[in-house]
Amino acid sequence: MNMKICVLAGDGIGQEIMVQAEKVMNKVCDQYQHDLEISYGLIGGAAIDQTGVPLPEETISTCSDVDAILLGAVGGPKWDDIDKSIRPEKGLLGIRKEFDLFANLRPAILFPELKQASLLRPDIVSNGIDLLVVRELTSGVYFGEPRGEEIRNGRRVAFNTMIYSEDEVRRVARVAFDAARKRSSKVCSVDKANVLDVSQLWREVVIEVAGEYPDVELSHLYVDNAAMQLVRDPSMFDVIVTSNLFGDILSDEAAVITGSLGMLPSASMGDKKPALYEPIHGSAPDIAGKDLANPLATILSVAMMLKHSFSLDAEAEIVEAAVKNVLAQGYRTGDIMSSGMKQVGCQEMGDLVVQAIQG
Ligand code: IPM
Ligand code: MG
Repeated sequence: MNMKICVLAGDGIGQEIMVQAEKVMNKVCDQYQHDLEISYGLIGGAAIDQTGVPLPEETISTCSDVDAILLGAVGGPKWDDIDKSIRPEKGLLGIRKEFDLFANLRPAILFPELKQASLLRPDIVSNGIDLLVVRELTSGVYFGEPRGEEIRNGRRVAFNTMIYSEDEVRRVARVAFDAARKRSSKVCSVDKANVLDVSQLWREVVIEVAGEYPDVELSHLYVDNAAMQLVRDPSMFDVIVTSNLFGDILSDEAAVITGSLGMLPSASMGDKKPALYEPIHGSAPDIAGKDLANPLATILSVAMMLKHSFSLDAEAEIVEAAVKNVLAQGYRTGDIMSSGMKQVGCQEMGDLVVQAIQG
C-alpha cells in the first residue's frame, strides 16, 4: 500500500515523540512492504516563530495532499502573551476546521499493566476502564458566531455562541453509533438539555439517529452527572457522544482517571481524507528536549491511523501488541514509573517498541 503522511511535530515534546512515531511507522512499513511517503509541516508556536502565523498556507496545502496527518502537540509559555488571534492553539482549531474533522475519537483505556497508576480506588477500577469519547470537533461554542468582546454600557463584555445545526449533530451521532457497533453496542449521549436549547436539539437529533441503530442501546446524561459517573463507575460507559466543549472536558477526565495520560491516542476525522491523529496530551514544555517524554500515546496514534485511514487492522494490532509487550517487560517512562520497573527515556522507549515489532 502507498501511504502518504504529513508530520506536524509542533511544539515542546512534539518534536521528540514524533521521531519515535516515525521510527515505528518506518519499521511497520519495512516489515509489511508498504510505501511510506512522509512530508513535514509547521504548526503552532513553531510556525509562529518561522512564519508569523500558527497555521501557514503551506501546511494546509501539504496536508491537502496526504492520506493522514500525524500531529505532536502545540503551545507553550513562550507564546502565552501573543496576540490571541495567532495563539498556537489557533493552529489546531484551524486545521480541524479546514479539513472538516468533525468527529474526534478519544479512547480511554486502563492498561492492565498500569492499573496501579489509576487515580481511582482499586475497587472502582477492578471492572476496568475501556470507553470511547466521540467529541464533536468543528462546531459548538468553539466556533459559534457571534463571538467577541465589546463595550456595552461602559463595561467590557465578552461572549461566545453555543450553536449546533441538526446535520452537525446527526453526522457525529452516526460516528458514535457506528463505533458502538464495533464495541459493546452502548451509546451515552451527554448534554445539558435541562438548561440549554442547543442541548435539547442535540438530544432530539441523537434520538432520531438511534432509530437507525435498533441494535445499539442509547442513554442520556446531563454533563454534570456524566462527570460524576465517570469517577464513580467508569466501567458503565462504552461510547460517549457529546459536543465540542463538553467533550473537551470529559475526555480529559476520562483520560486522567486511567492514570496514563501519556498513553492515550486520538483520531479526528471527517467524511474524506486526510484524517488527523495525535496524542491527547499536550506539549509539556517543562520536560521538552530532556528525553523524558512518553512516546507511547503518539505511537498508539500511529496504530489508530493504520486502522482508520488505511484499514491495516493487522498492522495496527501489531503496534498495539508491541506497546503492551514493552510494558509487560517492565519498561516505563517517568510519567508511568512505579517501583520495581525499569525507567527509560523517550528515545529508548521508541527503540524498545521497534524491537518488539521485530518480534
Ligand atoms: C484538546 C485541547 C484543545 C481543545 C486546545 C489546545 C485548543 O484542549 O485538543 O482537547 O480545546 O480542543
Ligand atoms: Mg482538551
